[in-house]
Amino acid sequence: MSIKVLIVDDIPQTRENLRKLLSLEPDINIVGMAATGEEGIELARKLRPDIVLMDINLPGIDGITATEIISREVPEAQVIMISVQGEPAYMRRAMLAGAREFLIKPFSSDELISAIRRVYELGKTRQVVAPVKQPAVVEKEKPKKEGKIISAFSPKGGVGTSTIAANLAVALSSGGSSRVALVDLNLQFGSQDVIFNLQPHRHIADLVSENITLDEETVTGVMLAHPSGVKILLAPPRPEMADYITPELVKKVLAILKNAFDYVIVDCTSFLNDITITALEESDFILLITTPELTAIKGTKLFFQVLEALKYPTNNVLLVLNKDDKRSGISAKDIQASLKHPIEAIIPNDEARILLSVNRGVPIYSAERGSAFSEGISRLAGKIQQKGGSYVAA
Ligand SMILES: Nc1ncnc2c1ncn2[C@@H]1O[C@H](COP(=O)(O)OP(=O)(O)OP(=O)(O)O)[C@@H](O)[C@H]1O
Ligand SMILES: [Mg+2]
Repeated sequence: MSIKVLIVDDIPQTRENLRKLLSLEPDINIVGMAATGEEGIELARKLRPDIVLMDINLPGIDGITATEIISREVPEAQVIMISVQGEPAYMRRAMLAGAREFLIKPFSSDELISAIRRVYELGKTRQVVAPVKQPAVVEKEKPKKEGKIISAFSPKGGVGTSTIAANLAVALSSGGSSRVALVDLNLQFGSQDVIFNLQPHRHIADLVSENITLDEETVTGVMLAHPSGVKILLAPPRPEMADYITPELVKKVLAILKNAFDYVIVDCTSFLNDITITALEESDFILLITTPELTAIKGTKLFFQVLEALKYPTNNVLLVLNKDDKRSGISAKDIQASLKHPIEAIIPNDEARILLSVNRGVPIYSAERGSAFSEGISRLAGKIQQKGGSYVAA
């Protein structure tokens, strides 16, 4: 199947050059050309292209407004914006309007063609639905000081890292005095979209473009708001898209979020790759999750050795015992003695409640504040607040 491209540019010569250049590519099919924003919108509605090449400066309706309308009405069409100079303010506006990529003139034919193919591939993974209206969130005052980055990590998978990260974020946000961000760094198989019942129509891979100026507006522009007040940066919707995310991007995004939020909770994979190490290095605290199971405890012990080798201050490690269960035969006391590190919070094993919560897409902390699980999360949130990060307490 070929990629259907619509060209929108007011200069006939430019339209013709683009058409000629792209007509040499066997997988690209020019389905239409428009000279104005109005005509571009009209043709996009009629032809349902995969890609729209949009000039930013157009007479009448400008390229940004046309992009906004096309993104809303023809959500499967991915807009690539073309502009003469890379004006950051323009690019930000264009991105918020729904543009997926920017090409700054002059660009080579290779740049153009590879941008079309990449945006098309990314576009196939996006939900073909108009963006759902974000729930109204009470805008909180900006933090007066830098926030805290807290990475949830476990050397063993399946111990509840994502569950705890999600519920902790909701707990820190409740009461409304703190701004809380949650970042899903399980880039191949993220789960926060399911935990919070969100459509992943915006995610971290939307920030992958050489031409996007990464700043608070662009980063928060691809985060989804949950009614709890938590703003969530989701993982890409398809595993192969994880390759687009570099440690440098993660580092920049975390630095921006640290300035914009009181707490940035990062849900890490259990694999110590460059991305996880970057998140851990940027963190003020590491939330180390373990369970009363020897395999998990052994991994945790090894991880403490890694931290010591890296000279990471282990007093910044908050150890959390999840799925606590008498039946395991291993108590919190045993674990503290074995790991030589205090346990900050004990979260009970509560399979029934968690199963229901995940399948409904409502975090337990939002639904059942009084449960033993939520009380454990509350205590953990309280300890984190004591350690600083909430500007109200400051
Ligand atoms: N306190 C708990 N009691 C009972 N079940 C729990 C608890 N916490 C998490 N679970 C369950 O454990 C499983 C793994 O949870 P979760 O996905 O949060 O773990 P994870 O460590 O992030 O896993 P992954 O390695 O896949 O990212 C899920 O089925 C979840 O419902
Ligand atoms: Mg997980």
